[in-house]
Amino acid sequence: MNESDWEALRKAAFAARAKAYAPYSGFAVGAALRTEAGVILVGCNVENASYGATICAERAALAAAVCAGERGLAALAIASDAPGPTPPCGICRQSLHELAPDLVIRSYAAADWAEYTLASLLPHAFGSDQLV
Ligand code: THU
Repeated sequence: MNESDWEALRKAAFAARAKAYAPYSGFAVGAALRTEAGVILVGCNVENASYGATICAERAALAAAVCAGERGLAALAIASDAPGPTPPCGICRQSLHELAPDLVIRSYAAADWAEYTLASLLPHAFGSDQLV
């Protein structure tokens, strides 16, 4: 991932954010995943009147990637208009770990961004290797 790859991913995440369905929280989020081969898959949050049925942007992007037959997910951009960068929620961290434990994540807010690794956000992750 070079800086121009990140810029393309950032733009894809903000474009996805524009599609968010967030009438309850008013907090629109976009996410864009990039494969090692350069394919970009996007998602946005989709809320529900039964609040717990909401899906976050990151998991929507992950579902889009799986549905497109993509693997080798290497990078994730998150877009919001929060005052500062927002890391993915705990459920999304666990979901992303399933297929992309080595993911590098950048979260873009209104005027700032931050970079994380999924491994740093979800240490001692539970994974398929723990299943007997
Ligand atoms: N949300 C995301 O889409 N991604 C995150 O990383 C954090 C939260 C959504 C869920 C809900 O629709 C709204 O933001 C407020 O929590």
